[in-house]
Amino acid sequence: MYAAVGLSYNDSKKSLIHSRLAPRIQKLGLSGFAEYVGILEDESEAAEFQMAVDLLTTNETYFFREPKHYDLLQQELPNFPDKAALKVWSAASSFGDEAYSTAMLLSDLQVSGRIGPNWSIVATDISHRVLLSAKEAVFPEDRLRAVTPDRLRRYCLRGEGESAGQVMMQDKIRSRVQFGQLNLCKPFGGLGPFDVIFLRNVLIYFDPPTKVDVVDRVLELLKPGGLFFLGTAEGRVPCKTPLQTVIPGAFRKVG
Ligand SMILES: C[S@@+](CC[C@H](N)C(=O)[O-])C[C@H]1O[C@@H](n2cnc3c(N)ncnc32)[C@H](O)[C@@H]1O
Repeated sequence: MYAAVGLSYNDSKKSLIHSRLAPRIQKLGLSGFAEYVGILEDESEAAEFQMAVDLLTTNETYFFREPKHYDLLQQELPNFPDKAALKVWSAASSFGDEAYSTAMLLSDLQVSGRIGPNWSIVATDISHRVLLSAKEAVFPEDRLRAVTPDRLRRYCLRGEGESAGQVMMQDKIRSRVQFGQLNLCKPFGGLGPFDVIFLRNVLIYFDPPTKVDVVDRVLELLKPGGLFFLGTAEGRVPCKTPLQTVIPGAFRKVG
C-alpha cells in the first residue's frame, strides 16, 4: 500500500487496519490477512486493490468545507492575471463536493462579470468508486448544508418521490468539471498549469517524505501567484517550493 499509493501506517494503527479489512476478508471467505495480501499483490486483482484502498481511506467531504477558503477565492480571483480563463484543480476530490462548490462560486463571479467565461475545473482522485459517483453528481441533501438557498435554487435540482432527500447538480455546473483518476504518489504529466489547487485532507495518509514529495510535484503545476489549499488542520508542509501563507490552510506560490 505504501509503495503503490503512499498509505503509511505505523504499528499503532494495527487495530484500525484490522477493523477496516477483517469484514472484507471474512466476506471473501479467506483464511486470513496473509491470503488477502497475496490477492492484493496479484496485478490481475486491481479491483480488489481499489476496494482495499477505499476501505483504508476515508472519503469524507461536503460542500463549501472550510468556508474561509471560498471567501478568499471570491475576493482574490477577480484580480488574477488569467481571470478570463481560470483553471482549478481539486487534487483529491472524493465525491466532487469541493469541485462543484468551486464551480458554483466561479459561476457567480462570471455572472457578475468579475471573471471571464472560460473557466474550468479538473477533479481527480485515486478511487474509481468515488469518481463514478462524482460524475453522476447526485448528493444526499445533508452534504449541501452550507450551500446558500439562492445557490441551491440556481445550480441544483431537488429530488422528489423516490429521490427525495437527494440533490443533483444542474448541467451548467456539472459540465464545467472534468473528473479523472490520478494517483498523487505516481508521476503525473499533461496537467495544468493551474491558478488554484486544492490538496485538502489527503496528506494525512502519507509519511513526511511522501508529503513533501507530493506537495512539491503538485506545486509544479501551480502558476506563480496562484493559490494552494490544504486542510487547515494539516498545518504547513515543509516543501521546497516557496509559499507565502495567506490564511490558515491557504498559500500563495511565490514567484
Ligand atoms: C478525505 S477525502 C478529501 C476530499 C476533499 N479534498 C475535502 O477536503 O473535502 C481524501 C481523498 O483522498 C483520496 N486519496 C487517498 N490516497 C490518494 C492518492 N495516493 N492519490 C489520490 N487520491 C488519494 C481518497 O480516495 C479520498 O477520496
